Amino acid sequence: MKIKKIRLDLGLEKSLRVIHITDSHLSYADEQDTEFTHTQAVKRRDCFRADSNATEYGDDYAAEQLRRGVAYAADADLLVLTGDVIDFYSHANLVLAQEILKDANYLCTAGNHEFAYRVGEPDLETTKLERLPEVQKYFKTDLRFASRQIGGVNFVAVDDCYDNFAEFQIALLEQELEKGLPILLFLHSPLPTAPLGGDAVEATRNMNELINRRSDLIKAVFAGHWHGDGIYLLPGGRVQYVQAGGFRDALGEIEIY
Ligand SMILES: [Fe+2]
Ligand SMILES: [Fe+2]
Repeated sequence: MKIKKIRLDLGLEKSLRVIHITDSHLSYADEQDTEFTHTQAVKRRDCFRADSNATEYGDDYAAEQLRRGVAYAADADLLVLTGDVIDFYSHANLVLAQEILKDANYLCTAGNHEFAYRVGEPDLETTKLERLPEVQKYFKTDLRFASRQIGGVNFVAVDDCYDNFAEFQIALLEQELEKGLPILLFLHSPLPTAPLGGDAVEATRNMNELINRRSDLIKAVFAGHWHGDGIYLLPGGRVQYVQAGGFRDALGEIEIY
């Protein structure tokens, strides 16, 4: 397991340990899925296995790596998943994700792949909203906005899986800011490192502006989606940590002290 250790000084009396897993890309099909999905599952598993150099566990490598990550987080204060837990919208993937995560203490945000029946189909907001109620049934926390306050820190997970935000998420983030605790923000898609221009969708521009303006409380951002590790400076002097994909047997271990 490739563990990226991050230490954040928030002046806590008692330190916290949080595990960040993203982009596991489970790729499976079962008897409730279509023939197309069965073919896609085999192709996609082969493609991620080649990318990850996984040699263990045969066809189950993606699921086993996620299981090991979840087990590693068992005694942590929190596990945060930032989307693409599954590679495509299938019954097998959703049931498996639910089974692996059933005992975990987690927050999870959506990734773009959670709503893709066919990998590569256009990312349409309407399709996502149609499939969201079904996908949501298999996860314990709200995939579009969820928060948890632990030991003086507010962990906030927000869905930006198509690089966009919605108006209701701005209002919810403002409510979180009113709590006055330092916030660690978890997203699927990394934030742009410069303020958005006037051509961006209004809610997305306003959310970015709010995140940038409130660097007093939003202390760091954690994201996935790019599948490789990266560290980027955001406006306001905060760091954005992009976590490598779980399908590469990678996770982030954040110690907050
Ligand atoms: Fe991904
Ligand atoms: Fe993604």
